[in-house]
Amino acid sequence: MRPPLPPCPVPLERLRPTAAPLELAVQLPPEVYRDPEVFAFERVAILDRAWRCLGRTEEVPESGSCRCSPATPEGVLLVRGEDGVVRGFYNVCPHRGALLLHHPAAHQTSLVCPYHAWRFGLDGRLLGAPHTRGLQGFDPADHGLPAVRVDTWQGFVFANLDGQAPPLLEWLDDLPSVFGRWRLEALRCGRSESYVVQANWKLLGENFAESHHFPLIHPELNRLTPTGRAGSIASRGPWQGGTMALREDAETVSLDGSRHGRALLPGCTTEDARLVYDFLVWPTLLVSVQPDYLLVYRLDPVAPRATRVTASIHFAPDARPEEPCHAPDVFAFWDLTNRQDQRVCERQQLGVESRGWRPGRYATVEDGTHLFDRMVVRAYGFSASVGGQVR
Ligand code: FES
Ligand SMILES: [Fe+2]
Repeated sequence: MRPPLPPCPVPLERLRPTAAPLELAVQLPPEVYRDPEVFAFERVAILDRAWRCLGRTEEVPESGSCRCSPATPEGVLLVRGEDGVVRGFYNVCPHRGALLLHHPAAHQTSLVCPYHAWRFGLDGRLLGAPHTRGLQGFDPADHGLPAVRVDTWQGFVFANLDGQAPPLLEWLDDLPSVFGRWRLEALRCGRSESYVVQANWKLLGENFAESHHFPLIHPELNRLTPTGRAGSIASRGPWQGGTMALREDAETVSLDGSRHGRALLPGCTTEDARLVYDFLVWPTLLVSVQPDYLLVYRLDPVAPRATRVTASIHFAPDARPEEPCHAPDVFAFWDLTNRQDQRVCERQQLGVESRGWRPGRYATVEDGTHLFDRMVVRAYGFSASVGGQVR
């Protein structure tokens, strides 16, 4: 049984206006975007309870591949073992708590702590601990790396930090069946970048969940996928999805709207090739399935006003084998668009901290943002019937 949540620092009555139906609802109270106590509560109530995406399996491609995810302040190690299994460990040494890995990625035959050289196998077992022979009651089997529960789906690596969530596929509920026709495990990364946005993580989620801002913030994107053509996908599980129809003369979202001969994603149907599918997998994975590439954003909240974003773009493995994963037209397009979102979210953070701001109303086309905020409210413990599954 999962322990009960600590008390929510926001009085639950303050959340009721957000839980109301869209036509009546009011946005979240301002303290949820700035208060360190709320941020600490969210780590326990949201981030540690969910299955959160930490990366893609291709980031740890072979035995000995090791990568440090910024999902927690100390980091979570993803390590592929000699048996091919991807495992997760807290990046902390059981001896005296030093951090094990300083670099985001490395290749190892074993993991050696840089402080006093305790050595661990790729499966986390303690293999060597200098000057411990004379100790009483010291069993190396009790001093392996602290394990994190990890599972994979469609090439995404997920971790559940509190270890109490249902199995990943059960937790994702109906998402795998909606996503099932694409085969995304084999995709290859063409570009990955990581940057810190000076805004609360929920502002980034709310922004991703609506296309209402496209005309003014992303005129280039709005030309290819006009906001007026947005549709939503019914969901039952901890996710929400929507579609954007491509303009008739565009093949994809890139600088000139052309695929430049790139293959469609494996499993993409003729109908899919005319659409962009956006999915927000609660709480911090944002995915956009374009006809010929997959766009992934992982949010790692680092402080009430700071969120690390890891943005990556993945292609079909057989796309232009002579020029693997090189798509400057796509990279340049998203460099521009990501900066546009970063700027608007950072300016919004300043706004929601203003003494002059009171939570506003949602526009009728901001149903996705409202749905996201209802999931926040529900995860905080507000238990009225607010829809959206958060476990
Ligand atoms: S803290 Fe790691 S070996 Fe001492
Ligand atoms: Fe945007």
